[in-house]
Amino acid sequence: MRTYGVAVHGAGWVAAEHVRAFAADARARVVSISSRRAESAERVARETGHADALIETDLDAVLSRDDVDILAVCTPHDLHPENTTAAARAGKHVLIEKPAALDLASLRAMRDAVEEAGVRTVVSFVLRWNPLFDVIRAQLSNGALGRLFMAEVDYVHGLGPWYAQYEWSRTAVQGRSSFLNAGCHAVDALRYFTDSDIVEVSAYAVSGSDRFEYPGTSVMICKFANGALGKALSNLDDAAPYKFRISLYGDEGTMLDNRIFSRTLPGQTDYAEIPTVLPDSGDVSHHPFQGEVSHLLDCIESGEESHVSLANSMNTHEACIAADISAAEGRVVELPLP
Ligand SMILES: NC(=O)c1ccc[n+]([C@@H]2O[C@H](COP(=O)([O-])OP(=O)(O)OC[C@H]3O[C@@H](n4cnc5c(N)ncnc54)[C@H](OP(=O)(O)O)[C@@H]3O)[C@@H](O)[C@H]2O)c1
Repeated sequence: MRTYGVAVHGAGWVAAEHVRAFAADARARVVSISSRRAESAERVARETGHADALIETDLDAVLSRDDVDILAVCTPHDLHPENTTAAARAGKHVLIEKPAALDLASLRAMRDAVEEAGVRTVVSFVLRWNPLFDVIRAQLSNGALGRLFMAEVDYVHGLGPWYAQYEWSRTAVQGRSSFLNAGCHAVDALRYFTDSDIVEVSAYAVSGSDRFEYPGTSVMICKFANGALGKALSNLDDAAPYKFRISLYGDEGTMLDNRIFSRTLPGQTDYAEIPTVLPDSGDVSHHPFQGEVSHLLDCIESGEESHVSLANSMNTHEACIAADISAAEGRVVELPLP
């Protein structure tokens, strides 16, 4: 069995989970942990039991190593494009933390670099490996909901000084907007469930707290290429515990989170609840990174493009950028963006 060398870059909150997830797959070996400050990389190495990993502050030095096959990009959002482009040019496969980029030009440039290099990518919309997502996708594919005509996903996560990345992600330069910073998880979920791309976006935004340099709450209504409608909420101003709410309406049935009512179950008189693991925590230790990381390794081994590759995720990011344009300019925005 071939093993792949992994370098994790940007040693903060999420990096430790990437290290643990790669280390738990026999096909991967964490060889390097790098960051702006060596002490941060050393701390993650220590906490995850990787005292033998190379500790670096220079990403180019990491990428020049032959024993590194994969780069996990865990730096602040604005650095993802340059980190990803550098990795792709060095021939490394890339696990890109979300959001992949904060602006269209960077997003397209990194997509081009990845395409040219022919490396595999996964954008870390990690909820795709949450068990409720599996339940929902199974109900959709077995026809329990019929034709999905309306989908709603709410990302409700009050971010504040208590949150690991708050200091930089609250700024317009590094956090940018509610959807790009975090609510992009909801937009990705909408696309995953509808199995379609967003073609039109209309959005409003409001500041529900004084914690951000941009409106912390934004809501988008969108149209999908397959005719369905969608609604996504990104609420970073919330005063209550984290919630990720999913409502899916089809012509044969409805799913509200893990509750289902379907005409394919004759005699059903009320919603049935399916016991599963809900996406009900904003804590990275609760996120299913194991499934995501093993999926990237599967893609590398098979040569197949991921269902959540950078190319696939372009539409998610364009929709988030379109929502910001729509809210700022008070108009409907069509995708793809010009
Ligand atoms: N998929 C998910 O559900 C999920 C969950 C959490 C986070 N994330 C994403 O992961 C990324 C990191 O988030 P986080 O919560 O881990 O933030 P974080 O705790 O602030 O970690 C980011 C780390 O990057 C390092 N860094 C900053 N500037 C750097 C530079 N120029 N070069 C190299 N390293 C640099 C910092 O370490 P130093 O001490 O070395 O400066 C910092 O510890 C974000 O994009 C976030 O959206 C995704």
